[in-house]
Amino acid sequence: METVVSGIRPTGSLHLGNYFGALQNFVKMQNEHQCYFFIADYHSLTTHPTPHDLHGNVKQILVNYLAAGLDPEKCTLYLQSDVPEVVELYLFLNMNAYIGELERCTSFKDKIRAQPENINAGLLTYPTLMAADILLHRATKVPVGKDQEQHLEMTRTFGNRFNRLYNVDYFKEPQAFNFGENLTKIPGLNGSGKMGKSEGEGNAIFLADKPEDIRKKVMKAVTDGGPTVPNQEKPEAIQNLFQLMNVVSTPETVAFFNEKYNTCAIRYGDMKKQLAEDMINFTTPFREKIEDMLKNDEYLSKVVHQGKEKARESASKTIREVREIIGFKSF
Ligand code: TRP
Repeated sequence: METVVSGIRPTGSLHLGNYFGALQNFVKMQNEHQCYFFIADYHSLTTHPTPHDLHGNVKQILVNYLAAGLDPEKCTLYLQSDVPEVVELYLFLNMNAYIGELERCTSFKDKIRAQPENINAGLLTYPTLMAADILLHRATKVPVGKDQEQHLEMTRTFGNRFNRLYNVDYFKEPQAFNFGENLTKIPGLNGSGKMGKSEGEGNAIFLADKPEDIRKKVMKAVTDGGPTVPNQEKPEAIQNLFQLMNVVSTPETVAFFNEKYNTCAIRYGDMKKQLAEDMINFTTPFREKIEDMLKNDEYLSKVVHQGKEKARESASKTIREVREIIGFKSF
């Protein structure tokens, strides 16, 4: 059994792309491994130092992940800011993190280009905080995408350096958990290859979307003039529409519209109407759970407290040991 850690950005709600990506992996992993999933609310301050509604954002993410299948009885689901031990480990790791390596980090370079008016030390040390998140539970596996590989590499560097400096074999090397091959690809609605929040308005269908919003978005999906010869190859935007249908509709429905396409009899308006209804059917149970939980502060509070307890148990053990290794001793 592996110890798994992953941080969740507290921005935006889950869309179908996330659901068939990270979420399904998290749900699978929580059955097989010791998993720590947390909402990275400290990290969010590196780009949004004065959040408009931090608590509201965190709550939104929490209910989305719970509705999508994270089970607080199976995994440890917590808020980063509920486990202050991570800040102490962050401090220790920062003492041995060098300015040069932090400045060379690609995400730092990208972020200072994106926010030249706020090049803060938190941005520079984002990788040390992330390393602290992971090493805090002495994790061996981290389910992250390609964009986080460098951070994970830095985590290994910091952990190994700690071991070397203090002459111990304490932190293990965390490895990426890669699911690449068997992920369901979810395209966006505006012809873009990938469903994503930042890919433009109306591109993504969120689990919490209301039926009328789903209808609007789907009806606006990019199509073309339709095929002119039988069995014509589908252009990308049309392939995308079919791929979305594959995910939420019955095989019969997909076959029906394929047949229409191949005989040049397809009417995209009809196809989109059907797709919208099937999307609504698919997302409705999630939306209902999300709406119920948003009203149930008592339940959410229980979940968060339970997560905090479990996370602090593991975190405080690590901090105790790290303090001892460095040489802190109480009088
Ligand atoms: N940096 C990650 C992201 O942007 C979020 C994150 C923070 C994280 N701490 C982590 C991921 C620890 C894995 C492990 O997606």
